[in-house]
Amino acid sequence: MVNKLDSRAASIADLKLLTKKRIPKFAYDYLVGGCNNDRAVSHNREALDHVFLQPSYLSRTQVASLKATALGVEYDAPFGIAPLGLSGLIWPKAAEYHASAAKTANIPYILSTLASTSIEDAAACAGSNLWFQLYPPKEQEIRLDLMQRARQVGCNNLVVTIDVPVAGRRPNDIKNGLSVPPKITLNSIYQTLSRPSWAVATAFNGMPQFASMQPYMNKLSNLKDVANYIRSTLKEPVDLSMLEKLRQQWPGNLIVKGVLNVEDAKHCAAINADAIIVSNHGGRQLDVACSPVEMMQEIIDSVGDKLEVFVDSGVESGVDIARYLALGASMVFSGRPYMYGVGAFGRQGANQCIDILYSELEQVMNQLGCSSPHELVKFLK
Ligand SMILES: Cc1cc2nc3c(=O)[nH]c(=O)nc-3n(C[C@H](O)[C@H](O)[C@H](O)COP(=O)(O)O)c2cc1C
Repeated sequence: MVNKLDSRAASIADLKLLTKKRIPKFAYDYLVGGCNNDRAVSHNREALDHVFLQPSYLSRTQVASLKATALGVEYDAPFGIAPLGLSGLIWPKAAEYHASAAKTANIPYILSTLASTSIEDAAACAGSNLWFQLYPPKEQEIRLDLMQRARQVGCNNLVVTIDVPVAGRRPNDIKNGLSVPPKITLNSIYQTLSRPSWAVATAFNGMPQFASMQPYMNKLSNLKDVANYIRSTLKEPVDLSMLEKLRQQWPGNLIVKGVLNVEDAKHCAAINADAIIVSNHGGRQLDVACSPVEMMQEIIDSVGDKLEVFVDSGVESGVDIARYLALGASMVFSGRPYMYGVGAFGRQGANQCIDILYSELEQVMNQLGCSSPHELVKFLK
């Protein structure tokens, strides 16, 4: 892990505060926002806050390796970086910084189909720590090509997101005119000019692109056509028959992201998925969604012997990671914290975010006397 911490940020909350000061309001709102009234975001927080761990001081085991195995590979920590679309809006090259930091720390990094960095560039940074998240395009040849490109760079783990049958309704993004192409208003110009380091970095690197999708859009000359194309090709909801098709077409590990109920989890097991990510998309899709916290037990009881169960949504600290591990997850992903890292400090912030989460989790495990991440289930109160 990285040891040169910037002393201005000792927690994810500190990174978030610094990010707020460094990026324009429309980008910050896009990052932190949930959907509708942001109830699912606050519910994620409340649900995690109700998970407690019980220490046992007098019969301690040797502490504490954070190493964890997921899908047959050993990582240095039981947590990873969730896929984040439009990453370049938050900070240019954010995805590359995340990918490089994941490789250094030896944790999984999931690149979004809609990230601003291509599969090939992300692989150059993440190496074998790269997982690829697919929003399956409706055209089979593009789908196959994306998968083929992922295979070609050595990626073995394909994450298929099922919880975006429609776009989430995000009032702040609507009010901020956040769209492709962006609506340029006096307000957005003011917001940009008041964040000069973001403005300079963005001017230097250009508008964020959907870099992995670029080869299929070369004939499109303007941003509006690009947006329409992305909307139309990714518009089909992922149903069971699509998952079955992807299972046949993808020879590596298939991970289904966005599972929140037992029936879906059983379907994933039935089609021989290798893992699921229990997730409510960080509260960005359904404002009345239940939290993964409430579903973990039931899902693990019904499919835990058939596939690996990972989780994301609402993690704001290493303590939260400990909570999800105690609920039985074998790998805990999060999204926003890593963006707060990069928003606060650029490249170095990605390392710092990982370092904060690692140190916090290690402290909890040492305090409990817990020898390894999968032992945390024994400390659930
Ligand atoms: C800005 C942003 C963009 C996201 N883009 C994607 C995406 O392209 N694909 C995807 O499967 N999930 C996406 N997600 C959801 C995350 O992968 C993850 O499920 C969520 O962030 C977890 O919640 P957390 O941010 O509270 O950790 C996005 C989340 C955020 C905050």
